[in-house]
Amino acid sequence: MTGIRQFPPGFLWGTSTSSHQVEGNNLGNDWWEYEQSGRVPHRSGRACNQYELFEVDFDLARSLGQNAHRFSLEWSRIEPAQGVWSDDALSHYAQVIHALKSRGLEPIVTLHHFTNPAWFSQRGGWVRQDSPRLFARYVAHTTRRLGHGVKYWLTMNEPTVYVVQGYVTGEWPPCLPSAWGRASLALINLARAHRLAYREVRRQCPDSMVGFAHSAPVIVPCDPTRARDRLAASLRDFLLNRAFFSMIGGRPWLRTRALDFIGLNYYSRTIVRSSGWGLQALLGRTCNEPHHQRGPLSDIGWEVHPAGLKAVLQRYARFGLPLLVSENGIATRDEGMRCDFIVRHLASLCGAIEDGVKVLGYCYWSLIDNFEWALGTKPRFGLIAVDYDTQQRVPRPCAALFAEVCRTNRLSEPDEPDAVS
Ligand code: GCO
Repeated sequence: MTGIRQFPPGFLWGTSTSSHQVEGNNLGNDWWEYEQSGRVPHRSGRACNQYELFEVDFDLARSLGQNAHRFSLEWSRIEPAQGVWSDDALSHYAQVIHALKSRGLEPIVTLHHFTNPAWFSQRGGWVRQDSPRLFARYVAHTTRRLGHGVKYWLTMNEPTVYVVQGYVTGEWPPCLPSAWGRASLALINLARAHRLAYREVRRQCPDSMVGFAHSAPVIVPCDPTRARDRLAASLRDFLLNRAFFSMIGGRPWLRTRALDFIGLNYYSRTIVRSSGWGLQALLGRTCNEPHHQRGPLSDIGWEVHPAGLKAVLQRYARFGLPLLVSENGIATRDEGMRCDFIVRHLASLCGAIEDGVKVLGYCYWSLIDNFEWALGTKPRFGLIAVDYDTQQRVPRPCAALFAEVCRTNRLSEPDEPDAVS
């Protein structure tokens, strides 16, 4: 190790999770319904049983030196039937927030992380014109009760990914492949929902900061000398990295404010190749062939590309808002690889901060192994291993490495700089 790098004072250090991926028994949402009917390949079941074990997990997070934690509220528990509010669920989440704060963990609360109440999806989900209004009503109700003392709110997680997975690939509920018309409608409604939710949260919690968590991949052409690969990469980049920002107001949010900060989920780089000039072909396919200077692949085939984190932070810094790394992590059973991933990404993050990018904090995905959507429980993203039979939690070696950074607010730089740029 050479060189010590310092993070800004008050930097938020934590991890991220989401309700359906850890809580278990989310009987009332669309994922659960699709899991039972076999339309998605795996069942979440008890997941990590965090609905009951949250204090165990927060004790671990605190013992690992963290000072923040991102989690999501499960809309289907809070509003189990349209217009019906569950006091039990709201009290539960009040306890969760209290449990975090009493352990010195700053809550970062996501209001929607991919799952919808079954009643909401059965009546048409996000393509219905009144969907933003229904979401805003849930947000108003929830923040009225839970808002006190929560500073950081994310209205939703990765709206573009939600729409692509649900309406383009069709791998996630509502499992409608190539439903392009519905995809655009859903994205428009999610953008409206974000704007309404932003207003509601600010109304209930005027001192809070409200953003959304954006999936921010680095997208590059497979062969930069081939025009159609370049076009495919820019088209994808527009759809995945830029479209939603324009929809929630683009620059005009300076007039009608709709964001106080931006959550960035960064994992990997996508290398795009196009086989022709038609629209479908131009959307390209991910090229998995060996590439010069390509980083190693995680267990689920995502390229490790630490330099991308700095690039993404610099890119979004142009919006002039504070940024939060709301997710960054790796699915691997190789702890050497996970530790290397963390150190190199933190070095990249440091680079962005040293260049003047204002970053509020960093949340590793994830605190514990969890239910990885259509991939089930096989991918292991956790700093802490979960045995799904016994629900036992065992911190992995990287948890100690990350804890050292969290406690000291410093990073010992890797000997060799990131080779892939
Ligand atoms: C996403 C989500 C998480 C994932 C994580 C690892 O990016 O899809 O926010 O729910 O589990 O990113 O894939």
